[in-house]
Amino acid sequence: MNILISGGCGQVGSHVVELLLERGDKVLAIDNLATGRREHLAEHPNLTVVIDTIADKGLIDKLVSEFKPDVIVHTAASYKDPNDWYNDTLTNCVGGSNLIHAAKTFGVKRFIYFQTALCYGVKPLQQPIRLDHPKFPANSSYAITKTANEDFLEISGLDFVTFRLANVVGPRNVSGPLPIFFQRLKDGKKCFVTNARRDFVYVMDLAHNVVKACDGVGSGAYHFSSGTDVPIKELYDAVVEAMGISPYPEAEMKLIGEDDAPSILLDPSRTFKDFGKIEFTPLKETVKAAINYYKLHGTLGEYTHLKIEEQNK
Ligand SMILES: NC(=O)c1ccc[n+]([C@@H]2O[C@H](COP(=O)([O-])OP(=O)(O)OC[C@H]3O[C@@H](n4cnc5c(N)ncnc54)[C@H](O)[C@@H]3O)[C@@H](O)[C@H]2O)c1
Repeated sequence: MNILISGGCGQVGSHVVELLLERGDKVLAIDNLATGRREHLAEHPNLTVVIDTIADKGLIDKLVSEFKPDVIVHTAASYKDPNDWYNDTLTNCVGGSNLIHAAKTFGVKRFIYFQTALCYGVKPLQQPIRLDHPKFPANSSYAITKTANEDFLEISGLDFVTFRLANVVGPRNVSGPLPIFFQRLKDGKKCFVTNARRDFVYVMDLAHNVVKACDGVGSGAYHFSSGTDVPIKELYDAVVEAMGISPYPEAEMKLIGEDDAPSILLDPSRTFKDFGKIEFTPLKETVKAAINYYKLHGTLGEYTHLKIEEQNK
C-alpha cells in the first residue's frame, strides 16, 4: 500500500511509519518539525520525507495527487503553546481540512485521525467517558481546533477511523508530564504532581492498531484506552525508578487547576470489540523505554497545552 503520514517525525507518526516500512508499504511522511525530529525516521528506500507544512494547500494537493496514497494517517497537530491560537488553527484546522479535501479530490480510500480526549471538556458528564458523550472542547485552543478537524472529517463522507486518545507515551514523547518530570529530575529540580488521574498507554500499542486501521479494521470513533487510570504520582514514581534516583526525591503535591480534568478515563469497549483484545504494556515498561530515549536524545521541549503543567517547566 501507499500511505501518506502527516506528522511522520512525531511520536505516534514515526512509530507507525516504522511498522509500515517493516512490512513493505511505501510511505510519504510530511512534517514541519514543530515538535518532531527528522532523526526519528531513518533513511529507507520506501520512505520519502517532506519537511514542510500541511497548511500549504498547493503542496498537499500535489503530494496526494502524485503519490496516490491508499490511506492518509493524519497525526500532525499543533499544541506547543497554549496561547498560539494562530498556529493551532493553521495546522489543526487549515492543515487538517487540506488533507481531508485532498483525500476526497484524489480518491484516497481511508483516513485515520487522532483526537484528544479534551474534546469532552475538563468536566466530563460520566466516567468512563462513552463515545456518545457530547463534545465540549471549550478548554483550550488545542482542543477546539482538534475537534474542528474531527468534525470536518465526520462530515466529509470519507471512510475514516478517529482514535480518541487520553495519554499516549513512550520514546519520542515530547509533551505532557513524562518528559517534564525527566528533565526536572535530571536538573535536580523539584517536581509538582497534581491529584489528577490519567490512563497512560504505550505508543507502540497504539501504532499496531493504527496499522490494523490502515488495513480496513474499524469505522468511525474509538477510544484508545486501557480502561483504567492511575494517579499521576504513579507516573512520577515510575520515572524516578527508571532514572535510578536515590534517595527518593519527594514531589510537591498540588491541586489541579481550573483548566485540567481530575480524571480522563475513556471507555474502550468498542475498540476491543472491533480491534480485538489489546495487551497493554505495563506503565513501568513504557516509562523505562521513554527514559532510555530521553537519556540518548533529550526531551526536545517538554511542551504542554495545559497551563497547569507550565508550573513544572
Ligand atoms: N500523545 C498523546 O497523548 C495524544 C493525546 C491526544 C491526542 N493526540 C494526538 O495524536 C497525534 C500524534 O501525537 P504525538 O504524540 O505523536 O505528537 P507529536 O508532537 O510527537 O507529533 C506531531 C507531529 O506533527 C508535526 N507537525 C505539527 N504541525 C505540523 C504542520 N503544520 N505540518 C506538518 N507537520 C506538523 C510535529 O512536528 C510532530 O512531528 C496528534 O494529532 C495529537 O493531537 C496525542
